[in-house]
Parts: sequence; structure tokens; C-alpha cells
Amino acid sequence: MNQHLKVIYVSAEIYPFAKSGELADVASSLPKYLSSMGMDVSIFMPKYRKPEVESLSMERVMGELQVPLGSEKVKASIYKSELGKCDIYFIDNPKYFWRDYIYGTGRGEYLDNDERFIFFNRAVLEYLLKTKMAVDIIHCNSWPTALIPVFLKTHYAKKSQFKKVASVFTLHNIAYQGEFPPETLALTGLNWKYFNPKQLSFNGKFNFLKAGMIFSDVLNTVSSAYKKEIQTEKNSFGLEDIFKDRKDAFFSIRNGVDYEIWNPETDPYIAANYSSANLKAKKKNKRDLIKEFGLSISTKTPLIGIVSYLSSQKGFDILLESVPELMKMKVGLVVLGKGDEKYENLILNAQKKYPKKIAIKFEVNTALTHKITAGADIFLIPSLYEPCGLNQLYSFRYGTVPVVRATGGLGETVKPFSLKNQKGNGFVFKEYSSRALLKTLKKALNCYKDPELWQKIMESGLRENFSWKLAARKYAKLYQNALEMKRGG
Ligand code: GLC
Repeated sequence: MNQHLKVIYVSAEIYPFAKSGELADVASSLPKYLSSMGMDVSIFMPKYRKPEVESLSMERVMGELQVPLGSEKVKASIYKSELGKCDIYFIDNPKYFWRDYIYGTGRGEYLDNDERFIFFNRAVLEYLLKTKMAVDIIHCNSWPTALIPVFLKTHYAKKSQFKKVASVFTLHNIAYQGEFPPETLALTGLNWKYFNPKQLSFNGKFNFLKAGMIFSDVLNTVSSAYKKEIQTEKNSFGLEDIFKDRKDAFFSIRNGVDYEIWNPETDPYIAANYSSANLKAKKKNKRDLIKEFGLSISTKTPLIGIVSYLSSQKGFDILLESVPELMKMKVGLVVLGKGDEKYENLILNAQKKYPKKIAIKFEVNTALTHKITAGADIFLIPSLYEPCGLNQLYSFRYGTVPVVRATGGLGETVKPFSLKNQKGNGFVFKEYSSRALLKTLKKALNCYKDPELWQKIMESGLRENFSWKLAARKYAKLYQNALEMKRGG
């Protein structure tokens, strides 16, 4: 019944064109799996200044789209290309998007993010309107796309083309809300009557995320554990009442893995391909990784990998606190990722202190991400909170053992290994402290000393299946739900 749904999928970041975090992976894989189920999916994102976008062959499908912004009209050009079987549309306006970053630099967000993303949201809807594109579902992701559901129920409420369109809003991380001063409302062209605590205002600010949560037809997040967590006062970032109000329209679907990309047998980025039946070549990848990062450790030394945005959310406070104690153990540590300037500096200091055992690259880099996933023995994710997390799922497929904090999707997918019954696919700690982190790492390192035991743990990860195939089917159901809710079925 879902087969021919027409889905518009909107995100500020989509791999390989722009990536700051795992949202980009989700936004490039899910549409692919939806379209393989027979849905007609078109993707929309801003046209950033990125080599991956510049080198793409694309067609300019609209030279001058007039986008309402406050009392003015601002020009957008629309480009079209392909991502797998999906059409992908890039919204172009150099003033807003011809920049090196998506949201801002490590020092802070761009000051005109309100204007940039209001423009983007409005441009998507104007383009659909102008081209009379057939639409059933508009699927929005995170705060930069959160005003689309608002506009659908206000500016565009009377447009017959959108009458039966349902909006789906996915919460990838509620810590990022897109909060702006009340004056920002003027750019939306919305009446001030909407600026009230039941609708667009939140603690006196214009809050995009909250707005999307209230105006979308259906709301979901990326693991059931995170869904539970964020409904508690402690973890709701103040949004608990909104979750209560929207309880009947709030769902969870755990993210999946694109095993066509994350497959050590065919992975083009790693030094030696290997299958789950024969993990010997994993050693070659470890050697390659040690060399690539310039570490001075032997291949016998356990190697810990981290690929992450460097921030407090990702657990860098307890990680940095653990470094002196960790360096007393026989280990190597490679870290890949950009992040808050504060954490980049702190981790750089640690690296300078232990140059033989710690190596860092401050990059978002696909090839290196794959090399770490294949070459490390342990993948460490000590997050303070983690809506879903994908790296632990990628690690399973590569026989790399995750050590994680039990929060959100991490706690849901990594099952603690127990010596007693010899079951479990990784190592898990609960308390958010360096003490707990170190204790659990030690446990893992002890198991690592016993190759047979370690093999068992790797194998239980290798048996896991977190394919998008399953998750995409759940989205199909969610879309159906959304349409029924919208169309009063
Ligand atoms: C955000 C979350 C991460 C999740 C990703 C994709 O980046 O922090 O946990 O996996 O979104 O949903």
C-alpha cells in the first residue's frame, strides 16, 4: 500500500555532500532504502561550498525562485542531481550557503542561521508549489528543517496541493534546538499571534525544534531508549510538556546500517578486505591504521579507535579525565573528528604528552573513518547521551568490539559481555564517570589478552543485523500512520 508514496526528504546535511555528524549518514541511506521499496523519494538540501557538491554533475532546474523572507523576496536557484535512485535538489543562494561549514565553526554557530534555514525551508515549499510536484509526505530532520511543518499549517494551509500532505519530523538530538530571539519571527512572515508558549515561543525565544514538534503531523526519534529518556524531566531539555501533549503522535524507529557501504568484504577504503568468516586480514588493517596515524605501538598492542564530534555530549570530559590512567595501560588510541575548540585543544595537549600512544586527526574523513572501524580492536563511545549512535553498529560488522556508555541507542544495541555465560557483543558502563569508563576498558583489555575469548566477542557482534531494510519498513508504516492522522482515517 505504501509502494507509490511520494516522499520529500529534507535535511541540512546529507552524505557525501555535507556531513557534520551521523545525521548525514541517515539522510543518505534511508531515502535509498525507501526508494528500493518502491517509494518515490526526492531529497532536498542547501547547496554548500563543498568539493563534493561542486564536482557533481547537476542540472539547473529553476534559475529564479522568489522566496518570501520577511517583507522581501529573496532569490533561490534550484539544482537537481541524483543520489542513487533518488532525485536530489540543491537550494542555492550563495549569500547563505557558499560557506565552508554547515552550521558554523568550532568557535560557534553562524549568526544568521535563523535567516539561512528559514530561507531554506521556505524555498523547498515554494519549489514544490511552483513545480506542482506530487507529494504525500514531507519528512523533516532536526531543527534546521523544523519550520516546514509550521509553514504547511500556516502560510500554505489553504493550498490544495498540500491539503493531504503529512509532515513527519525526526528528532535526531534534542540538545540542538535552534533558538533565536523573538525578532526572528519577522523573517517567517508569520503573525505574532503564533508567538506564544503553546506554539512558537519557548522561554521567551523563538525555538525551531519546539515549533516543529508541535506543528508536525507525526514525530519520531531514533531509538526507543532515547525516546524514553527524553520524556523524563531530567533529560527533556525542558520539552517534557510538549512530549506529553504529543504523546499519541510520537514514535521511535532505530537507525539502520547501509551494509552496501559498511562491508569489510568490499570496503574500498581499507587496506585489506576481509569476511566475517576469516578475520585474519583485520591485522593488516590494524598495521595500516597504526602507520597512517604515525603511532609507535606494535600490532599486538590493543588499539582503541574513536570517531566522533569532539564535544561534551560525546563524553570527552570523562575521556580526557581518563587519559593519564589509560596511558598507564598498554594501549594505543586514535581519534578522528572535528569539534568544539575547547576539546580540540585539550585532546591535542594529551596527544603531545603521549605522542607514541595517542594520535589525532581533526577531520571529518570518510576513508579514515572506515580505516578506524576496520583497524581498531576496540571502538570507544563514552557518550553522555546518544540518541542512536551508528559507529557501534558499523563496528559490529567489522569485528571491532564497542565499549560504550549505556545511554540511548548505545545501551539498546551493545550487550555487555559476561564471562559467566560467554555472551554479549561488547562492553558497557552505566555511570558517567572516568572511573566507570576505565573499569570497563580494563575489563575489555583483559578479555583481549585471551584471543579465543576475544574472537567469541567479535563473532557475536558479527552476527548482528541492523540493516536499514528493517528500519525502512518501519518508516513506511510511520508514513502511513501520518497520512491516516492527517487525512482523518
Ligand atoms: C545525531 C545523534 C546520533 C544519531 C544521529 C542520527 O547525530 O547524536 O546519536 O545516531 O543523529 O540519527
